[in-house]
Amino acid sequence: MPDALQLLRTRRSVKPMELGGPAPSAAEIETLLTIATRVPDHGKLAPWRFIVFEGEARLAAGATIAAVFREQHADATPDQIAFERQRLARPALVIAVVSRAAPHVKIPEWEQQLSAGAACMNLVNAAYAMGYAASWITEWYAYDRRVLDALGIAGAERIAGFVHIGRPARPPEERDRPKLADVVTRYSGPAR
Ligand SMILES: Cc1cc2nc3c(=O)[nH]c(=O)nc-3n(C[C@H](O)[C@H](O)[C@H](O)COP(=O)(O)O)c2cc1C
Repeated sequence: MPDALQLLRTRRSVKPMELGGPAPSAAEIETLLTIATRVPDHGKLAPWRFIVFEGEARLAAGATIAAVFREQHADATPDQIAFERQRLARPALVIAVVSRAAPHVKIPEWEQQLSAGAACMNLVNAAYAMGYAASWITEWYAYDRRVLDALGIAGAERIAGFVHIGRPARPPEERDRPKLADVVTRYSGPAR
């Protein structure tokens, strides 16, 4: 288990295609979900919920994604449809983070959405801390109303992410990061 700072300094996403089994155990999934709910949440609204895709259910969801894709792309090839069918089945486990942000007398919806983002990131970091790798993605089906209906996601809800979790096929390569000088300033009084 990596040291926390080392993990945060070095973590890299691993593409769903490169995430394999074995899947996290039931106890590990429970831990992942518990950590995902342990995020800052202004007003204690729990403005998110989670959908676990595991085992055969990943393929059932993929069948829906593929069916919608086929209807929207009359010229889709069998390979493309097969690719769509595997969307949630490549890694051993996918957890959807669903934002339930809604108008509230005090808490802006933006803050509720941010809390769902924090839940995604907690899931990702927890997965790495347990020795797995992960990828936080959305893709087209996160925005397709027909797919969302089939997955049981209400009209006012939104997908914050499909967090793919599995064992990495190989260590990920580093990528460029923004230079701190480009993204950090130090406040030095009111702008004139
Ligand atoms: C909300 C959100 C949605 C994303 N959706 C996608 C996606 O659909 N497809 C994709 O390839 N990457 C997507 N990404 C980016 C991946 O998470 C990407 O692998 C990541 O930025 C790589 O950086 P890292 O290795 O530093 O984590 C998304 C990121 C965020 C925050």
